Amino acid sequence: MEDKKFYITTPIFYANARLHMGHTYTLVLADILARYHRAQGDQTFFLTGADEHGEKIARTARGEGVGPQAFVNEKAASFKELLRKLSISDDAFIRTSDQITHWPGAAKLWHSLVAAGDIYKGSYKGLYCIGCEAFVTEKELMDGKCQLHDTPPEKVEEENYFFKLSRYTDALKRAIEEGSLRITPKSKANEMLAFLGEGLADVSVSRPIGVIPWGIPVPDDPTQVMYVWCDALSSYLSALGYGGSDEKNLSTFWPADVQVLGKDIVRFHAILWPALLMAAGLALPKELLVHGFVTSGGKKMSKTIGNVLLPEDFLSEYGVDALRYYLAREVSPTEDWDLTREKFKEVYNANLANGLGNLVSRTLKMAEQYFDGEISGDLASVPPIRTHAGATETLGELAGLNIPYLVVNDILPRYHSHMRAGEIHRAADAIWELIGHLDQFITDYEPFKLVKTDQETTEKVLIGLLYGLREISVMLAPFLPDTAGKVAELIGASSSGNIIVFSAHTPTEPLFKRKE
Ligand code: MSP
Repeated sequence: MEDKKFYITTPIFYANARLHMGHTYTLVLADILARYHRAQGDQTFFLTGADEHGEKIARTARGEGVGPQAFVNEKAASFKELLRKLSISDDAFIRTSDQITHWPGAAKLWHSLVAAGDIYKGSYKGLYCIGCEAFVTEKELMDGKCQLHDTPPEKVEEENYFFKLSRYTDALKRAIEEGSLRITPKSKANEMLAFLGEGLADVSVSRPIGVIPWGIPVPDDPTQVMYVWCDALSSYLSALGYGGSDEKNLSTFWPADVQVLGKDIVRFHAILWPALLMAAGLALPKELLVHGFVTSGGKKMSKTIGNVLLPEDFLSEYGVDALRYYLAREVSPTEDWDLTREKFKEVYNANLANGLGNLVSRTLKMAEQYFDGEISGDLASVPPIRTHAGATETLGELAGLNIPYLVVNDILPRYHSHMRAGEIHRAADAIWELIGHLDQFITDYEPFKLVKTDQETTEKVLIGLLYGLREISVMLAPFLPDTAGKVAELIGASSSGNIIVFSAHTPTEPLFKRKE
């Protein structure tokens, strides 16, 4: 098999507040794809990190009476702690205040822009939204306020460096139209094309050090610091060693295969970022996977409303896999979605305590009670499914087909194609479809009755069930790594060709306890 590489990134998170469920979604989505590609044998690099410079962070630190470095150190440490609790399998965590790993890359990018003749000094007079860390125009405001942050932008008038973004309008259009820069979903690509259709203006890419002392100094001009978005975007490269003494990872992994981001920062990633890369003579990321926003109780999460949902609220009560399940399956990656504790509990009980948990415990209990857990046989001998509740149109008439056939010919191919397309909720649906078929299989044969009259068929039914669970554990691994490992361990499967052997035992406690 051809060796493939897979480089996936999340945006780096502003180190000014705790990570809430919106940020958690970005992380879990990227982690599931990273784990999937690793399991497929792709040489995988999964990057996340902290965005530590800029006015917003400097101000928050000042407000708390701490120096900015000490402030971000503490935030970055708490982010890393949360990543472990969320079972995030990042290969690197980049911090933009890290002068050793990040600054050389940011400086190299700047030098490349200068060498391309794309940087010139100018003066900027206009508006700046600190929440967005972005220069904004009047027409982007609603009642004089930033639509995203609901705050009026500040008026600024300053000398700074500009980047000739306008030069790249046509090249960006082409890249998006031709799909060399794929933006998923398509609606976001169209939005960007419409935006490009209006023509691009050059953008300011530095700020005077007197105004923003907290940032990376512009190479060769100590009176300016790099604009925080240029600094932050370059972390996707610096994390691979760009600008450092060893650029081996850069040549292995760049361009990124998938960059995951939320819909609020599409322009930075679909316009500014590829333009910077073009100027620097670097390849563009292959795909930007743009996800929607989580709201809480129908409203944007905000401290003032008091509806901010934190991952910790769910982790302590339900555990990490339940949280990952919710984010992976109950949410469409490209749409907005609402989260409430009630909804969370409802799907937890229906699909984890009942659906998956119940199937695992029933199957293992029967295997242990009837056969001491030792079961083996030929997959071809598994009897056919008789009724097909939940069968999809693509399955057509299934009568006469057994579980292994169904898995190999229908469920697995769909699962893989959805995973490759980043449609993790659909891939998860395929897993739960199989759970539905296995439940149906139990209803069809009633092995708990059958065992009294026909041990041989009962064993074959159990082979079908255990085989199904083994496949579930493999498909589930990127989503619910702990649970998948437990299921695999409880089943104890090994196979050679069509012959499969199980050495199963029952769990000491349920995988997911029902919540009242
Ligand atoms: N620091 C910038 C990114 C720089 S990348 C070079 C930033 N940080 S952020 O902390 O504000 O956001 C990080 C990610 O979390 C973004 O993908 C953002 O869209 C996502 N989310 C923040 N709030 C969100 C929701 N309420 N819902 C879903 N995702 C949201 O932007």
